[in-house]
Amino acid sequence: MTAAESPRLVQLRLNGAIPRHIAIIMDGNGRWAGERGLPRSAGHQAGMASVREVVEACIQTGVAVLTLFAFSQENWQRPAAEITALMALLEEYIAGEASELRDKGVAVRMLGDLDRLTPAARGAVDRIESTTAGGRALALNVCLSYGSRAELVRAARRLAERVRAGELEPGAIDEAALTAELYTAAWPDPDLLIRTSGEMRVSNFLLWQVAYAEFHVTPVLWPDFTREELFAAILDFQNRDRRFGRVST
Ligand code: IPE
Ligand code: IPE
Ligand code: MG
Repeated sequence: MTAAESPRLVQLRLNGAIPRHIAIIMDGNGRWAGERGLPRSAGHQAGMASVREVVEACIQTGVAVLTLFAFSQENWQRPAAEITALMALLEEYIAGEASELRDKGVAVRMLGDLDRLTPAARGAVDRIESTTAGGRALALNVCLSYGSRAELVRAARRLAERVRAGELEPGAIDEAALTAELYTAAWPDPDLLIRTSGEMRVSNFLLWQVAYAEFHVTPVLWPDFTREELFAAILDFQNRDRRFGRVST
């Protein structure tokens, strides 16, 4: 069966209401590898195929923004060998996929404290952002060296600097002003937050932005997450009653 014939894809198109923005906490690579007696890095490697799958599935369904949690600020505390393997994988992903992503119209942005990356990884990040800039089919944000609290602190500092420069009155600081200083300022908030591997926590990801996101947690480990799993998550989303604090219509 080709992807285009997927009954889930047909159904979710009939249902309408495609999330504009999907955010994913890609978790479970280490457990996937452990179950196979492989090193954790093999799980990260296998997880790359799932990234490809979800990017294509988002283009197929018309999702406008996909934000992936690839490496957290806290992940810097992992063993050096695992961090080195992850950075190598990042460079490999960029070298292997940048031109294909550009051809598909995917605009890639990397969000986080990128100054902590090695110069080689940093160079790769700059390369994929410039290669794919202007893509219109999908905005793909990859959160790297990212922590939501650090993002909020950075936003507060930037607002304070604008106040000090006389550009902004403290009383003019509102939700929109703070949102405008976040890495995600250019995009609407996520409608749907997916976490794989069954963990019921947000792990310092997009704390401000997920205020009214629908959560979909699946026990599937990230390397086993396919396009069909994404379609299933969208179908789940379509069955939610999003009230935003109001009463149902
Ligand atoms: C997610 O998989 C990838 C990163 C956090 C970099 P993990 O590496 O957290 O895998 P588990 O959770 O240990 O199985
Ligand atoms: C969250 O996963 C970070 C990423 C997916 C990049 P973790 O595996 O680091 O989170 P915890 O430690 O289970 O909360
Ligand atoms: Mg994990």
